[in-house]
Amino acid sequence: MNERSGRLRAVPVLDLDAIIDDPDTRIVVCCGSGGVGKTTTAAALGLRAAERGRSAVVLTVDPARRLAQSMGLTELDNTPRPVAGVKGEGKLHAMMLDMKRTFDEIIEAHADPERARQILTNPFYQSLSSSFSGTQEYMAMEKLGQLRRSGDWDLIIVDTPPSRSALDFLDAPERLGRFLDGRLIRLLMAPAKAGGRSAFKLLNAGFGIVAGALTKLLGAQVLKDLQMFVSALDAVFGGFRARAEQTYKLLQAPGTAFVVVAAPERDAMREASYFVERLAEERMPLAGLVVNRVHRAPAAVLSAARSTAAAEDLETRGEHDLTAAVLRLHAGRMQLAAREDREQEHFLSAHPTVPVARVPAMSQDVHDLAGLRKVGELLAAQS
Ligand SMILES: Nc1ncnc2c1ncn2[C@@H]1O[C@H](COP(=O)(O)OP(=O)(O)OP(=O)(O)O)[C@@H](O)[C@H]1O
Ligand SMILES: [Mg+2]
Repeated sequence: MNERSGRLRAVPVLDLDAIIDDPDTRIVVCCGSGGVGKTTTAAALGLRAAERGRSAVVLTVDPARRLAQSMGLTELDNTPRPVAGVKGEGKLHAMMLDMKRTFDEIIEAHADPERARQILTNPFYQSLSSSFSGTQEYMAMEKLGQLRRSGDWDLIIVDTPPSRSALDFLDAPERLGRFLDGRLIRLLMAPAKAGGRSAFKLLNAGFGIVAGALTKLLGAQVLKDLQMFVSALDAVFGGFRARAEQTYKLLQAPGTAFVVVAAPERDAMREASYFVERLAEERMPLAGLVVNRVHRAPAAVLSAARSTAAAEDLETRGEHDLTAAVLRLHAGRMQLAAREDREQEHFLSAHPTVPVARVPAMSQDVHDLAGLRKVGELLAAQS
């Protein structure tokens, strides 16, 4: 077996320090499929930018609890908070978005406690709120627009939500827009909005019929709850389309850099490929690809095949159990590294001009500033 035959082709190196140091870079968006390291990369780049003197803010989505705590993120109040422990002259702020919590808070704010409890435990609300995929993506974009307009930051680093597909970040806000503009929603909105406005008379008439049918189907109480929920939605998302379009333009601006994160695995690399192609179609500026959690081949002098053969030999003779185990481990690591190389090959051959940075798999999860600093160093140390 020639497990290093798929040696990685040479591609341009992604120089992330050049990107975060460049005063013209105002927004970095870290995207990619689920679980690949988007939050970690975003936080690490934010910390590194701050420690290199910039005033940076990281917009995270659902960071792991310990990581959130280490960045001082204990409350979901949609406001950037200063991160303690940053070295040097720069500044780092961080905030986190949690859509489910935000929805619950809207309901709590719009209803008395008993009614709020009824709604929150209402299975209808639960399935509705969880099927609004796209709200998180929308909120991330909306918040990005707000932060950018505030002009308070040199650099905004955006983490993207844990969707299965990386493309959801670009598609979901539009999908949500279509939903909010949809007929049923407009009908449900009508009683809340009507307030004597004649334009809504027609809708109200229509609503009467639909409401009659829905009341039979759902019961008057559930329907009222649903209306309350929908008008709460409108309070948050009113003016949706115009703002989403503005933010979309912001993403196309030259001061934006998309960093696509992938694990060296088939699905993640394929997703990264789609995303890179989509960014080109949308004329959105791609900085490059981060391949995260890469396993390096150990001492390549001993191939996996020879290592396995030697282990088998020792095992059949019943000798040197520990040595056999080490040889097996070595073979496994060599095979893993070779497989990871192969999984990257398709992307690299399809996109030979996209700059790439690789970050090794560390032995521990990244849950504090020291860990983020280390990831930042690894991101920058490309050769
Ligand atoms: N290079 C690395 N070495 C070791 N662990 C890592 C590395 N990068 C990320 N991790 C760990 O992997 C886990 C997933 O990372 P992270 O939360 O950043 O992924 P994500 O893409 O944001 O996931 P999601 O799609 O769920 O939001 C975390 O526990 C993190 O600490
Ligand atoms: Mg994440």
